[in-house]
Amino acid sequence: MTGKESLLLQKAYEEVKKYQDIVRDDPYRLAYHLMPPVGLLNDPNGLIQYKGVYHVFYQWNPFGTVHGAKFWGHYSSEDMVHWQAEPIALAPSEWYDQNGCYSGSAVEWKGKLYLFYTGNVKRENGERETYQCLAVSEDGIHFEKHGPILQLPEGYTPHFRDPKVWKENNRWYMILGAQTLELKGTVLLFTSDDLYNWQAAGKIAGAGMNGLEDFGYMWECPDLFKLGGKDILMVSPQGLQPSRYCYHNLFQSGYFVGKLDYENMQFNHESFTELDRGFDFYAPQTFTDDSGRTILYGWMGITDEMEPYHPTLANHWVHALTMPRELKYKEGKIYQNPIEELKRIRNDEVIIQNVNIKEQRMTFEEVTGKAVELVMEALKVEEGKLQISFRSEASLIYDSDKKEISLQRRNLKNGLQEKRTCLISSLTALHIFMDHSSLEIFVNDGEEVFTARYFPNPLDETIVFQGNACFNLKKWNLG
Ligand code: FRU
Repeated sequence: MTGKESLLLQKAYEEVKKYQDIVRDDPYRLAYHLMPPVGLLNDPNGLIQYKGVYHVFYQWNPFGTVHGAKFWGHYSSEDMVHWQAEPIALAPSEWYDQNGCYSGSAVEWKGKLYLFYTGNVKRENGERETYQCLAVSEDGIHFEKHGPILQLPEGYTPHFRDPKVWKENNRWYMILGAQTLELKGTVLLFTSDDLYNWQAAGKIAGAGMNGLEDFGYMWECPDLFKLGGKDILMVSPQGLQPSRYCYHNLFQSGYFVGKLDYENMQFNHESFTELDRGFDFYAPQTFTDDSGRTILYGWMGITDEMEPYHPTLANHWVHALTMPRELKYKEGKIYQNPIEELKRIRNDEVIIQNVNIKEQRMTFEEVTGKAVELVMEALKVEEGKLQISFRSEASLIYDSDKKEISLQRRNLKNGLQEKRTCLISSLTALHIFMDHSSLEIFVNDGEEVFTARYFPNPLDETIVFQGNACFNLKKWNLG
């Protein structure tokens, strides 16, 4: 370890120590989501099950609740439910990553754990440089930096980052988010035999390919994985204009379903589908675990103008990751559902059968709380609307005439109500996860998901059902 690295680590741990009591006592700290110990968290990185243990790394600025020179924070777990904080995996200490060990991914090879990440460098004149780097570990905890393994190819700006690596037919593949000199977002493919030497295999997606017109000025955090016999390219494009039900957040994330032709290095794909319908979801990454499941984590946030208004800033932390979600592919679409293991944190089961509300406002004595799971099954909204209010701060509204489902909350900046909406053909089931300051709502067994942070009065635990609907209700306290 270099002197600079150990100094940075020491300073980061001091920062954690300095604020740990304040952070712990924040009423908006979450009960079952991964959060930074202090400072700012963004993208999930390096997701892997290595030697049986689950590892989640994350973009982390320990020194403030703003974006800056990122570290890789690290959690590990036997079951994706109970997590342990591990030593910092990467610190921005070297000439090639001094302004941030940016996002990337992990693979195992011959018993070692390889992390690929982007070294971000900003020169004094404001110019950006980018290096794709490798760090290797024998135990999954301590990492040795190997430095850059891939330079910026010609024809692209230094917005070139977020390597995702996988193996197919005994060859390694890497995709990266890139920006062309015409300022268009794109994805580049590279291949390797040994993880150290990489050859360019060209552009596999972006404006002008596969019938895609202008589609944003940069694509971040690409991921390519198999699901249900398809190849899915997941990306986080920046610069899409809002269009009807889509793209209302500042940045988007979603996927193209297609087929990667490994002979010709071409990816034929269909149109883009947004992954999440809520307010706070970005930079998702997937991994395949030992049981073969495809599991996704996202950042429960977006770099946007709302960040400086988060009430947790006063307590020296901001943002969290989503719950782990298992992905399935059905009829052209990705379905997302919370992993089975999360049932282990259920307590105090409440079952209420045959709820029937008719133009009423209904509450149930035992159906209240802050960290709560709700399951609504055999759900029918035959006419009018169903509205569920969460702690007087956000609500889910289904309009059976328009077939629209919306999540509404108070905007942190101006205090006004804001909403995100999508279309569904009918509403048959809801699976809702409330945490102290987050909502994740799975509609119709994962056909759509709404993810959002919200900051209710910490004393308010009300859950109100309103409108016209019949359903069976189950509720658990979580934690
Ligand atoms: C996405 C992103 C990545 C980058 C990282 C830096 O949120 O901008 O493209 O690697 O965050 O923290």
